[in-house]
Amino acid sequence: MDYKKYIAQKIKAEGLSEDEIYSSIALPPNSDMGDYALPCFKFAKVLRKSPALIAQDIAANYSADDVIEKAEAVNGYVNFTVNKSALARETIDAVLNSGEKYGSSDEGAGRTVCIDYSSVNIAKPFHIGHLSTTAIGGALYKIFNFLGYKAVGINHLGDYGTQFGKLICAYKHWGNKEEVEKGGIHAINDLYVRFNTEADEQMEKEAREYFRLIESGDKEANELFDWFKDLTLKYVKGIYEKLNVTFDSYAGERFYTDKMQPVIDELREKGLLKESEGAQIVDLEPYGMPPCLILRSDGASLYATRDLAAAIYRKNTYDFYKCLYVVAYQQNLHFKQFFKVLELMGKEWAKDLVHVAYGMVSLEDGAMSTRKGKVVWLEDVIKKCEEKAYAIISEKNPELENKEDVAEKVGVGAVIFGALYNSKIKDIVFSYDKVLSFEGETSVYVQYTCARANSVIEKGGVPAEYKISDLLPQEAEVVKGIAAFPQAVKDAAEKYEPSIVARFAVDLAQKFNKFYFDCKILTAEGDKKNFRLALTAAALTTLKNALKLLGIGVPDKM
Ligand code: ARG
Repeated sequence: MDYKKYIAQKIKAEGLSEDEIYSSIALPPNSDMGDYALPCFKFAKVLRKSPALIAQDIAANYSADDVIEKAEAVNGYVNFTVNKSALARETIDAVLNSGEKYGSSDEGAGRTVCIDYSSVNIAKPFHIGHLSTTAIGGALYKIFNFLGYKAVGINHLGDYGTQFGKLICAYKHWGNKEEVEKGGIHAINDLYVRFNTEADEQMEKEAREYFRLIESGDKEANELFDWFKDLTLKYVKGIYEKLNVTFDSYAGERFYTDKMQPVIDELREKGLLKESEGAQIVDLEPYGMPPCLILRSDGASLYATRDLAAAIYRKNTYDFYKCLYVVAYQQNLHFKQFFKVLELMGKEWAKDLVHVAYGMVSLEDGAMSTRKGKVVWLEDVIKKCEEKAYAIISEKNPELENKEDVAEKVGVGAVIFGALYNSKIKDIVFSYDKVLSFEGETSVYVQYTCARANSVIEKGGVPAEYKISDLLPQEAEVVKGIAAFPQAVKDAAEKYEPSIVARFAVDLAQKFNKFYFDCKILTAEGDKKNFRLALTAAALTTLKNALKLLGIGVPDKM
């Protein structure tokens, strides 16, 4: 139930609207001060009374009941105390009745949210720099679906550009079929890197010719290109499967080849296109930005041109409510520019485009590329986490069955959580030891808590009925923690910030562990045993739901 609403409706205060009160009610920093607080400072001016007096009046006129058992004025705040038994009943029942659906809603029904994420480049390494976009985008995809929206996952492949001419040229000179077939993306990437270090004038010229051949539909050039693309996709899809992320569309930059001309025509018709040193641009100086390049002087289109066409295509195809681009903050300017161009074109929906920017990921031992100039492949980071997880688990619990399976869930979880736990805009330094710590603010910690709760439930079962007597603070904290889940999911969607769900999970796990260590469950006396079992089951379900939204599985035993 919406306690804020409940309180706001019951408050009688002349001169203040219910909405005003509702939006002012906040969660106090610690629970000694009650569960909800209404600060009265900003009402002082309108009501011409001191905040302390306003708070006293509101508290005095508030009639407590079995939902809100106390309203108390303290230093200009009204603190409200929720009846914990009632909250426990409502919360636990809600979780046990809805199970995997607990926390979900249909608030987004009828609305589509496009999420452009991961967006890998063909024949280029899928490296640790792609981790954040993949993890954040994958989580947002699940979160929006959970809230009833229709999420459309789009992998805007980087499959357009002169580099593919270079790649074909390199293959023609140095490649062979079996090696590429066997080496896959690594082999193609090696060819591309070799071209960039060894190609001479003659090869550069050939490369431009190959690019032209791809563009003009030449059969052989396109077959080679498609082959490179297939090999890349096969490879990245293996990683997506591991990370539990899915896409509904792989329409990449090339897909827009024939969709750019209409955009260019429209720009011209609307008088937005200007010539500058032979190139076609949209002047953005009045908006304090450098011009947006639409066509180079040789007539070639640009990244922004394709993004303009893609945005229009998505609007026409999906009629989105929002279109998110989960892309590193290095591209801030690019997004600002092409969003502005769409606005200037009169697309009122340009306001619904959101650049969900995130920070850099580097490894503890230096930048994301090692000194030898080699990038760190995401695949290797995942593998290393799985191996380390396997070693830790084997040491902690040598008897454990399905160690591989557990190590996979723990290792993959650590990689995802490592990228998600901090507010997305922060740069992160990825540390294997940190993300795999059983004691830290990690997915392993949450998974281990789940295994602990699961083992209690396996022994005690989920009771069909339970009675609630007065709650201990440790129990009340778990109840409040569980009850906060639906709001955490909503906040995560509203702020495009899956870290809110990750932090929620750690917080609830901490609360559960305090309860677990302070209160007997299986050996509790009287009605307490069933209540505590029900509470444990509800906490477990909630934690699992939270991790699932992030793409992280939960082993039964650890
Ligand atoms: N492939 C691009 C890169 O690696 C990211 C594409 C992001 N999506 C977009 N619509 N621009 O930088």
